[in-house]
Amino acid sequence: MTVSRETDKETAFEWRLDDLAEQRDRTFIVTGATSGLGLVVARVLVHAGAHVILAVRDLIKAEQILPLITSGGTGHAEVRELDVASMSSVNAFADALAGDGVQLTALVNNAGVSVPTFRQGADGIELTTATNVVGPAILAERLLPLFAGPAPRVVLVGSNFSQRTRSAPDLDRMSKPEEYRQLRQYTASKVLAAAWAVDFSDRLAAIASPVRSVIAHPGVARTGMSDQAGGPVAKALASVVVPRIARTPEDGARAILFAATAPDVPERVFIGPGLRRSDARLHVVPVRGAAADPAFRSRVREFVSALSTAPA
Ligand SMILES: NC(=O)c1ccc[n+]([C@@H]2O[C@H](COP(=O)([O-])OP(=O)(O)OC[C@H]3O[C@@H](n4cnc5c(N)ncnc54)[C@H](OP(=O)(O)O)[C@@H]3O)[C@@H](O)[C@H]2O)c1
Repeated sequence: MTVSRETDKETAFEWRLDDLAEQRDRTFIVTGATSGLGLVVARVLVHAGAHVILAVRDLIKAEQILPLITSGGTGHAEVRELDVASMSSVNAFADALAGDGVQLTALVNNAGVSVPTFRQGADGIELTTATNVVGPAILAERLLPLFAGPAPRVVLVGSNFSQRTRSAPDLDRMSKPEEYRQLRQYTASKVLAAAWAVDFSDRLAAIASPVRSVIAHPGVARTGMSDQAGGPVAKALASVVVPRIARTPEDGARAILFAATAPDVPERVFIGPGLRRSDARLHVVPVRGAAADPAFRSRVREFVSALSTAPA
C-alpha cells in the first residue's frame, strides 16, 4: 500500500496487520510498551523481525510482560527505563542510546495519560502536558541524530478528539490547578501534541531531513485509558460510550503500525480508523482545528521549549 507523502483531502484504504512487511534489521522505540496499544505495537514489530526498545517507566512490569512481546517472534526486544514526563529521564535515555551507537528506524511516541486531578511530573510540569506533549517532543528532538536508513520517522499517537475540537486550547490555562478538567486537559494535550508534530514536520523539511513526523490515532480502543476516568463525565464516557464503540487493542494499533512501517507515509494528516467498528479501513484525514494554524503551532513550539527548559 503506497500513500502519497502529503495529502490535502481525505482518503481511505484497507490495511490489515497481515500487510505489515518484514522488519528485520530495523530498530524501533515504543514508549509506554507495558500495556494497551504500546504492548501490541511492540509485539507485532518483534513478530515481524524488528529490534524493539521498550521504553518504560516501570521496569518490573516490563520484565513481566516481556515474554508476551517476544514469545514466538523472530525479532528482539530490550527494556530501557524512560519516564517521558521527566526531562532528566528523557535526556538520560537519549544519551544512553547515543552512547550505545543505536541507529533508529522509528520512534513511536505512544506513552500517554489522562489524569483525573491536577498533578505535576518530576519537573513541576502539569502531568498530562508533560507526558503527552513536552516529553515526546523533547525525546524526538534529542533522538534526531540517531535516525538512519530509508524513511525514518517519529510517530505521534494522537487522538481523534483533537481533530473534533474547533477552538484553540488556552495555553495559559494548561498549568492552572484551579481550572483543571480531566477531559479538557487530555484533549488540549493531544491538540498541542498534533500541532507540535506538524511544526516538527515543517522544521524537518526546512533542513531537508529524511526524518518524517507522522500522526496516527487508534480511534477508540479498549485499554487501560478508560481506568483513568475520574469525574462523572469521564466516567460516563468510559463506562457507557467506550464499550459500545471501542475496538480491540490490536485493531486500534493498526494505524500506529502502518504509520511506523509503511514505506511511504503522509505527513500533516491523521491516520486512523473510522468511527464505525465495521469499517476496517484506515482513513487519512488532513490535520484540522488549531493544529492546522501555523500561528498556533509557533506558540506551541515556544510553549514546549519554555516548559522543557524551565527550572523545576
Ligand atoms: N485507548 C484509546 O481509545 C486511545 C484513543 C486515542 C489515543 N490514545 C492514545 O494511545 C496511547 C496509548 O494509550 P493506551 O490506550 O494504550 O493506554 P494505556 O493502556 O493506559 O497505556 C499507556 C501507556 O503509557 C505508559 N506511560 C504513562 N505515563 C508514562 C510515563 N511518564 N513514562 C513512560 N510511560 C508512561 C503506561 O505505562 P504504565 O504501564 O507504567 O502505566 C502505559 O504503558 C496514549 O498516548 C493515548 O493517549 C488512546
